[in-house]
Amino acid sequence: MNPAYLFLRRLPPDKEMKFRRILRETRKDSRFNEMRNFIQHGDTTVMEHCIHVAQTAYFIAVKFGIKVDEDALIRGALLHDYFLYDWHEKKPEHMIHGFTHPGKAHAQAKRDFDLKHVESDMIKHHMFPLTPMPPKTREGALLCLADKLCATSETIRGRMPYRV
Ligand SMILES: [Fe+2]
Ligand SMILES: [Fe+2]
Repeated sequence: MNPAYLFLRRLPPDKEMKFRRILRETRKDSRFNEMRNFIQHGDTTVMEHCIHVAQTAYFIAVKFGIKVDEDALIRGALLHDYFLYDWHEKKPEHMIHGFTHPGKAHAQAKRDFDLKHVESDMIKHHMFPLTPMPPKTREGALLCLADKLCATSETIRGRMPYRV
């Protein structure tokens, strides 16, 4: 089980309700569900990955009392990999996916959602330090951290011979 699920279970009920409401709203009237058609790490889909990352970032903010725009933190994290293609396909442009997908995800999220400044900052800079510009917001820094934690856990989990 991904640690993000355990984190969400430990959120206070009102915070868990908020997370579920924002996830429901983000999935509605958008191409969010298309992310389930693509693998991100191991056997985790891009949609599952984005949900894990949003849960983890939100858990860290709540647990450590970090002052953030909670709605923006959750939604920005849910949309941070909204690039909508299979980056494992052998195509020349996918060789630099790590560097280019934040910009693509941001352009598509901007097309489909009314993004706040904080959410744009989060999506555009979530690959820092691979991409040189760091996020300027606390929400963006939390996303960078949560994304790396989840990516590591999903990749390792995908390679484990036995799972629980
Ligand atoms: Fe990403
Ligand atoms: Fe990610």
